[in-house]
Amino acid sequence: MTNIIEKRLSLHKNLQDQQQLNTALKSQIARLQTLANVGTATYMVAHEINNLLTPLGSFAALALKHPDDRALIEKALKKAVRNCEHASKIMESMLAMADGETQNKKNVSLLALVQEVFACLCRDFAKDGITVNIDIAEDLTVRGVPVQIQQVLMNLILNARDAMLPHGGVLTIKAADIDGTVQIEVADTGCGIEAADLKKIFEPFVTTKLDKNSASKNSGAGLGLVFCKRIVDEHGGCISVESKPTEGTTFKVTLPKPS
Ligand SMILES: Nc1ncnc2c1ncn2[C@@H]1O[C@H](COP(=O)(O)OP(=O)(O)OP(=O)(O)O)[C@@H](O)[C@H]1O
Ligand SMILES: [Mg+2]
Repeated sequence: MTNIIEKRLSLHKNLQDQQQLNTALKSQIARLQTLANVGTATYMVAHEINNLLTPLGSFAALALKHPDDRALIEKALKKAVRNCEHASKIMESMLAMADGETQNKKNVSLLALVQEVFACLCRDFAKDGITVNIDIAEDLTVRGVPVQIQQVLMNLILNARDAMLPHGGVLTIKAADIDGTVQIEVADTGCGIEAADLKKIFEPFVTTKLDKNSASKNSGAGLGLVFCKRIVDEHGGCISVESKPTEGTTFKVTLPKPS
């Protein structure tokens, strides 16, 4: 009898110890999760700010080469102001996202968001032999965090441009209201994606842009699409891709419509 009581007491003590350990581990995981979030946020901010700084820097360098061209200098300064403002909005939004804060969603004009993205990317696509077709109704609105939807668009547009360098091609951005959602397509006539790569392009650090001397003169981090997917998921939407090597690629993004 005594033996059974002793065993029960010992089991009870064991259970208490395990519960304490469990609580300690849970709070350790929560602390580690916060650290992981800070890491993700740092990557995201650096990646997206780089997307904005690159065009800003090239425009400023061009303006410096032509000190007498007042119009060019004014344009470069306007770009600098615009991109800095955009960069600070992205920073705020990314840090809040990593903190787990719910971001303010708004009803915004999709066409205005697309136009703002092109305004931030200063190099004229036509100079690279790329024709841009935008087919989005002026009154088509989406519900989301504007700066984040712009990040998705910017990453898809930059990828499309890289895929079409150096020969040029056609970039088509269209959107329509289908079954109560907004379906956006970003299509290019670029190099396309091999089937083996297609399966993993939404995974972190997957990039084919490793060669600094490649046609796109760009080396990639393999993070743009990871952030696109994360943002689209957080909006309750979805992102998919279809591609044929040498023919081109189409990304489809579905976002909620204003309720
Ligand atoms: N439109 C496209 N056409 C062809 N390949 C594409 C296209 N979009 C993405 N890819 C492929 O998917 C890979 C991952 O894209 P992702 O945007 O995540 O990273 P990245 O462009 O390489 O680097 P970065 O972090 O600077 O965006 C690219 O390296 C490229 O191989
Ligand atoms: Mg990219």
